[in-house]
Amino acid sequence: MNEVDFEDTLDRFLFYREKKDKGEEDKKTYGDVFDRRTLLAFYKILKRSVEYVEFPISTGKEAVVFRAVGKEGNYLAVKTYLLSRLNYKGLSRFIDGDDRFANVHKTKANIVYIWARKEYRNLKTYRDFGVNVPDPVDLWKNIIVMRYIGDESKPAPLMKDVMENLNREIIYDILAEMKKMVRAQLVHGDLSEYNILVWEDRPYIIDVGQAVPLSHPLSMQLLARDVRNIEKLAQKLGANIARDDILRELEVI
Ligand SMILES: Nc1ncnc2c1ncn2[C@@H]1O[C@H](COP(=O)(O)OP(=O)(O)O)[C@@H](O)[C@H]1O
Ligand SMILES: [Mg+2]
Repeated sequence: MNEVDFEDTLDRFLFYREKKDKGEEDKKTYGDVFDRRTLLAFYKILKRSVEYVEFPISTGKEAVVFRAVGKEGNYLAVKTYLLSRLNYKGLSRFIDGDDRFANVHKTKANIVYIWARKEYRNLKTYRDFGVNVPDPVDLWKNIIVMRYIGDESKPAPLMKDVMENLNREIIYDILAEMKKMVRAQLVHGDLSEYNILVWEDRPYIIDVGQAVPLSHPLSMQLLARDVRNIEKLAQKLGANIARDDILRELEVI
């Protein structure tokens, strides 16, 4: 461990804070991310795929998403699961029964790493099936690096925050994404306007950690929930689409 240059890691992690000369307050915000194991994981990521980390785009219950800059100067989104916040039982429900992780030893200590691997793998599968997700770039421990959706001045907004400006036809683009997700045989499981970004009039599906294969015992229940959520979303947009239309579109009835 001695060769780890914590100072350099911190410098590049706190690039934005230092650049903007922010105060102690910000440090507190990052407190949860800065456990030793996560800092070590960042060290690896900063060597491999990230030049520096800029600032948090989102601080959620279980994860912080940072904007970062990659080795080629491109923007990235870095999602870091907070080791202290994850609920073992909650996550296990979506990992147990997933054949892809059947032979993986699951413990309280490593469940968050499995979760991040699962999200990364789901992103790759969706990407391979043409689903509009942020391209996965790198994974190490509890950190997922992916393409950043947005521009220099702002990240892409969540759909729920721009509903009134949207053309109702966007619901058909979302249905097309759902169809590709079914073809990929992975049920998203938390699909709603809270996990769809809108950028240049296109929907981007995010937050795919809980997505499970169709063979998973919870898959039909989750699919039904996703369909209900999209039906409600269609209503909010004023589009005339019923649940059966969605199911027909997905070719599941
Ligand atoms: N690739 C990305 N590009 C831009 N913003 C992103 C990206 N991924 C996530 N975000 C932002 O971070 C927030 C949280 O990400 P999400 O994956 O939904 O995690 P959570 O589990 O906290 O809901 C999103 O609502 C979005 O605003
Ligand atoms: Mg989310």
